[in-house]
Amino acid sequence: MARKIVVTSGKGGVGKTTVCALLGENLARLNKKVIILDLDFSLNNLDVVTGVEDKVVYDVSDVVDGRCRVKQAIVKVDRNLSVIQSGRGAGAATSGQSVRLLIDGLNAYDFVLLDCPAGVDEGFMRAVSAADEAIVVVNPSLSSLRDADKAINILMQYKLKSVSAVVNRVRGDLVLNGKELSVEDIADVIKIPVIGAVPDDDRVLTAEGTDVYGRAMHAFKLLAKRIIKGDGKIYDCTSFYRGPIGSIRAALKRSV
Ligand SMILES: Nc1ncnc2c1ncn2[C@@H]1O[C@H](COP(=O)(O)OP(=O)(O)OP(=O)(O)O)[C@@H](O)[C@H]1O
Ligand SMILES: [Mg+2]
Repeated sequence: MARKIVVTSGKGGVGKTTVCALLGENLARLNKKVIILDLDFSLNNLDVVTGVEDKVVYDVSDVVDGRCRVKQAIVKVDRNLSVIQSGRGAGAATSGQSVRLLIDGLNAYDFVLLDCPAGVDEGFMRAVSAADEAIVVVNPSLSSLRDADKAINILMQYKLKSVSAVVNRVRGDLVLNGKELSVEDIADVIKIPVIGAVPDDDRVLTAEGTDVYGRAMHAFKLLAKRIIKGDGKIYDCTSFYRGPIGSIRAALKRSV
């Protein structure tokens, strides 16, 4: 039975699509069969982020409207990782129930990750109602935490098995000098378990792909392990800036 996890946030641009793509990639590297569904019908870009934009023929709305079978809309990214692109022009007409039916046909996968649109309106409800678990992506900023709080309050009304958070774009140098909330502080504010932290890293996703040896990738590897096992280490975004070399890095970052 596939685990169906919606990746949501409230606020836009905090890293939902990035988390879907890189968490998906890392679950796949750990030998899990993963499919990511783009449920952002207006600003969809999962295909670009996963590098398969030239291979997309059918999308979610084609499946839901019966123009193709689920299998025809699945685009393979890698051996264990596939995506289904969101419906161009689909929207209000696509119900949560129809997305759920589509997902019921994906039980050969270990994980179905749902890339949710920003906001807490119809697109959010559609994605959440098709999931069993939710990951809320937050940035360490007041506006992100405030929007996440609204999203979490609504998520609590659904009968989800779990609602947890991933803190993305953490600036370890700023956390160390007290200018940014720590991951522990954020967990206290949002009152749901934080299962992952990802550093702000220019190499997270570039035109050439992901830096597989980068810090963000290491953070996603730990997150994938934790999601599979149910516990485990969270990446320490401050470690890079600790000690004599770390303080030089922090000083260099300040001077950029
Ligand atoms: N850890 C990170 N470090 C640096 N840049 C990041 C990180 N995570 C995401 N980004 C960048 O932030 C931007 C927004 O990310 P992304 O598209 O994943 O957000 P989103 O929440 O899906 O946005 P939307 O609400 O529009 O769907 C992208 O340019 C992405 O490369
Ligand atoms: Mg997105």
